[in-house]
Amino acid sequence: MTYICLMLVEKANQIYEEAKAAIKSAPDSKTLYNVKVNFLGKQGQLSALMREMVQLPKEERPEFGKLVNEKKQNLENHYESREQELKKLELQQLIENEKLDLTLPGPDRDLGKIHPIAKVIDDISSILNFLGYSVQTGPLIEKDWFNFEALNIPQDHPARDEQDTFYIDETHVLRTHTSPVQIHTMLKQSPPFRAIAPGPVFRCDSDVSHSPNFHQIEALLIDKNVSMADLKGTIAFFVREFFGPEIKTRFRPSFFPFTEPSAEVDCSCPICKGKGCRMCKNSGWIEIGGSGLVNPKVLEQANIDPKEWQGFAFGFGIERMAIIKYGVPDIRLFSDNDIRFLSQF
Ligand code: PHE
Repeated sequence: MTYICLMLVEKANQIYEEAKAAIKSAPDSKTLYNVKVNFLGKQGQLSALMREMVQLPKEERPEFGKLVNEKKQNLENHYESREQELKKLELQQLIENEKLDLTLPGPDRDLGKIHPIAKVIDDISSILNFLGYSVQTGPLIEKDWFNFEALNIPQDHPARDEQDTFYIDETHVLRTHTSPVQIHTMLKQSPPFRAIAPGPVFRCDSDVSHSPNFHQIEALLIDKNVSMADLKGTIAFFVREFFGPEIKTRFRPSFFPFTEPSAEVDCSCPICKGKGCRMCKNSGWIEIGGSGLVNPKVLEQANIDPKEWQGFAFGFGIERMAIIKYGVPDIRLFSDNDIRFLSQF
């Protein structure tokens, strides 16, 4: 063997040992790949060695080429098995790092709930639907005429002050009660009919039992030979259905420009059963709203002949009814949007 051949064989062994050690100690696939490029790649050390073969005499070349190829094959095998090893290791690490703890409690999901006011509106509506009343609506920004004039409340009437009206402009107000829907309904439908109108109303007023926006439900029945007895019977039935059979109703003479005669409606206090408590201010009764026979003047305003048709109407405060039913101490809780309060219903 020529001296130069000995030198190249020596170099081949050196590269081989170095590569083998580098493959074995590569800590991850990326380093391993770099080792491969460095020793086995086209620009790598073994390819460079092959190119040096031109220095050898012709007869020594095949033997040397075979030797280098064998070493290359050998290193490729080492490479492959180390690659498998590292892949397994890395997968294991990945699994370990992303371990799922199946015993951990899952994230809480908040479920939506019907607001207590919406629930009371639904309950009231379904009782009155059962009695043949259909739901009607009207605008919240109301023409002065519908909110006052057509309901027999003229410009200088003191009731306008009592209701603490929010004015939008000279002829528009935020409706102060649901009674204007009476007028909309009378203008739309021809008698006989029964209608209810639940919804928000607005008054410039705020304390424990008054809120600037609250809700009412209006009921209107127009038919022939309607009397106070029909009104009382309907309200008594409705109150018993809503609050329970033990609740009594009481009618107190009152005044509303749009009903004649008029009466305020009280329920026996469900908390103390009429004995007297903080909720009913020791009277044993709680007021829920107003009622009466529709004033003939109002029927005329809405083109209904009062000689042929009569009617009754009542308007109850929804929050009032919710307060009585659920024993809520402050009306403002309904619009505070505190989930701890709302989720109790
Ligand atoms: N609209 C009256 C109020 O808000 C209540 C009422 C309605 C009275 C219907 C009589 C008839 O106080």
